[in-house]
Amino acid sequence: MHPVAANADLSLVQGVIAQGLEEVTRRFEEQLRSDLPPVQRLVSHIENYRGKMLRPTLVLACGLASLPSLRRSVTPTLLASHITCAAVCEMIHMATLVHDDVLDEADIRRRGQTVNRLHGNEAAVILGDYLLASAYHLCSQLDSQKVALLVAHTSMTLCAGELLQLSHRNDLSLDETTYFEIVDRKTASLVGLSCRLGAQCSDADEDTAARFERFGRKLGIAFQIQDDLLDLTGQTSTLGKPANQDVSAGKLTLPMIHHLACIPPARRAESLLLLESATRSSRSGTGPEAFARLRHSLDSSSSIAHARQTAERLIAEGKTELAQIPDSTARSLLLTMADAVITRTF
Ligand code: IPE
Ligand code: IPE
Ligand code: MG
Ligand code: MG
Repeated sequence: MHPVAANADLSLVQGVIAQGLEEVTRRFEEQLRSDLPPVQRLVSHIENYRGKMLRPTLVLACGLASLPSLRRSVTPTLLASHITCAAVCEMIHMATLVHDDVLDEADIRRRGQTVNRLHGNEAAVILGDYLLASAYHLCSQLDSQKVALLVAHTSMTLCAGELLQLSHRNDLSLDETTYFEIVDRKTASLVGLSCRLGAQCSDADEDTAARFERFGRKLGIAFQIQDDLLDLTGQTSTLGKPANQDVSAGKLTLPMIHHLACIPPARRAESLLLLESATRSSRSGTGPEAFARLRHSLDSSSSIAHARQTAERLIAEGKTELAQIPDSTARSLLLTMADAVITRTF
């Protein structure tokens, strides 16, 4: 086979991504470093807890899959702009997590104590702001303003999604349309941006970049559905963050919305009462018991399966977006990552 037509080997591509992620971590640390010890202590705390790095990995893998054919097949190489964009996406993500833990009153994140738990809500709010400001500072260093514009727009979308969710807290009539609106904004917008930026840094044309963004958006919605399923079915020890926190925080997610919409009226009334007693704001004090009964009711319906099937369909649709992208090892890796989004257990 002619070398140009051959796909670069899997271990080579994985090695390029692993090395890229190390550079992302270094760029991240350099950008956040502070000469003030109390600030540096907070920054070091969050740097010690590494998550799955989904968004930066997508920037790098989409970047490799969009390289011109010669560079894609023989020597897949990432550019400095890929690393910067990957660090920016992870920084925006972490800012939202630090703020989200304040909203959710969460104690555990990435197997460690949350910033709000250790240092209080005030420090967590300002640290989240510091992360957001650092992300803009970092992407403003790129030659083109195009990335900064996209990052700013996506951050606005993401915050609007969180605000929309907040406005529906304890809303037991939340419908699927609004749920998807929230999820598309709060989670899928950044996952879609990560994929677009990877392609743009490789000089992909607008059609290709838009295709990668659509791939990421579908993955992002499926990712949040899986997160919501794990919240209901997983254990804190595996997740590294509290399980059962959505019901407790008054957030209805896809399985519960489907459950309430599909069960007979008499059982619906019972589930609504249980939901009310399972929330943190409930005065009944029967939270854990009510949650266990709700889980039982959910298990006897098809709502968990409905949420799983919805996520599977989204992943299939996302993968279809990549069908038009030239075959490469990086593209195969992206297809495998897409499957992992909904088979993951944490
Ligand atoms: C958690 O995101 C928040 C959601 C969008 C569900 P991740 O599950 O990607 O968090 P980390 O980065 O791996 O901790
Ligand atoms: C994702 O929603 C939050 C953001 C996109 C910031 P969750 O509230 O479900 O995230 P976790 O479960 O706390 O990680
Ligand atoms: Mg949360
Ligand atoms: Mg969650």
